[in-house]
Amino acid sequence: MLRSRITGTGSYVPEKVLSNSDLEKMVDTSDEWITERTGIKERRIAKNLQAASDLGIEASKRAMHSAGIKPKDIDLIIAATVTPDMPLPSTASLIQGRLGAKNAAAFDLNATCSGFLYGMAVADSFIKTKGFKKILLIGSEVLSRVTDWEDRTTCVLFGDGAGAVIIEPTGQNRGILSTHIHSDGNLWDLICLPGGGSRHPASKESLKDKLHYIKMKGNETFKVAVRTLESLVIDTLKANKIKPSQLALLIPHQANMRIIQATAKRLNLPMDKVVVNIDKYGNTSSASIPIALDEAVRTDKIRNGDYILLEAFGGGLTWASALIRW
Ligand code: UT7
Repeated sequence: MLRSRITGTGSYVPEKVLSNSDLEKMVDTSDEWITERTGIKERRIAKNLQAASDLGIEASKRAMHSAGIKPKDIDLIIAATVTPDMPLPSTASLIQGRLGAKNAAAFDLNATCSGFLYGMAVADSFIKTKGFKKILLIGSEVLSRVTDWEDRTTCVLFGDGAGAVIIEPTGQNRGILSTHIHSDGNLWDLICLPGGGSRHPASKESLKDKLHYIKMKGNETFKVAVRTLESLVIDTLKANKIKPSQLALLIPHQANMRIIQATAKRLNLPMDKVVVNIDKYGNTSSASIPIALDEAVRTDKIRNGDYILLEAFGGGLTWASALIRW
C-alpha cells in the first residue's frame, strides 16, 4: 500500500527574545499571570526586514538537508500561513523562486493554527492520488506584525517562527496513517483579523479601529478548544485501532499549556510523552507543530516505528489531527 512519510524536518526561530518581564514594561501584565494562564515564558520576534518567506526558507533549507534532497527535486511547495509576506503572490511562490525549486508547483494554505496539519492532509493525498514525489510543507508565521502590542489579552500569547518537513511516498508500512480535518465557520469571530481583506480594506478608519490586528475571545475559545481536542484525539486513535497507551508521543499545537495538559489527561498520557515548547516560543500558529516536531526529532525523542499523534485547533474555527508511524 502506498503511503506518505516525513523524510526530513527543519525549523527556524528569530534570534530576538521577548520575555514576560519585557512585556511587563509594555502592558499591565505579570510574568506570574502569563506563566500560570498560558505556560509561556518568552517568545521570538522577527527582525524588521524578516517576513514569513524568510523564516520559511531557513526552515526549508534545514528540512531539505535532513532529507538529503535538493531544491530541484521538490515537486510541490505548500506554505501554511496567516501572515504571508503579501496577499499575492503566495508566500509559497516566493519561497519557490528564492530556493530555486524550479520543478515545484506552489501555493499557500490558510487554516490558521491547523494549517500545517491541513497541509499534511493535502500533501498525503497528492502523494497517494497524484503521483507527487517530494513535497515541501512549511508552517511560517510572523505574528508579531499582526499583534496589538497595547492589548494585554492577546500580545502575551503570540510569537514568530517557522517549521518545515519533506514528505515522500513509501511502500513500507509506516508514515502518515491518517489525517483528520474539520471546521466550524459559525464560530469565525472567536479568533479573527478583520482588516486588510475585501471586507475591510486598509483605510484610515481600519487603522484607527485597529482592524489589522488579531482579535480573540480567549476564554470562549479556550472552552471550545479543550472540548473539541479531547474528542478529536480519541476519534483519531479509534480510526486507527490504536490505544492511547501505544502512543510514543503527542505533538500538540502550542496555544496554551492548560489546553495541552487537558488533552494529555484525556489520553492518560504522562507529560514526558508530550512535546512542549510553548514556554520558549508562545503560540506560533501554523509553525508550532513543525517546530515541535523538528525539536523532537533532533533531540532523539522519536524512534522508528513510534506512533505519534499531532493535533491542532485554531481560528476558523478549524481543528485537525494526524497519526504517524515514524
Ligand atoms: O491558537 C489558536 C487557539 N487559541 C487558543 O486556543 C487560546 C485559547 N485561550 C486561552 O489560551 C486563554 O483563554 C487565555 C490565555 C487567552 C486567557 O486565559 P483565561 O484564563 O481564559 O483568562 P480570561 O480571558 O478569562 O481573563 C481572566 C482575567 C480577566 O480579568 P477579570 O475580568 O477577571 O478582572 C482579564 O482581564 O485576566 C485578565 N487578563 C490579564 N491579566 C494580566 C487578561 N489578559 C491578561 C494579561 N495579564 N495578559
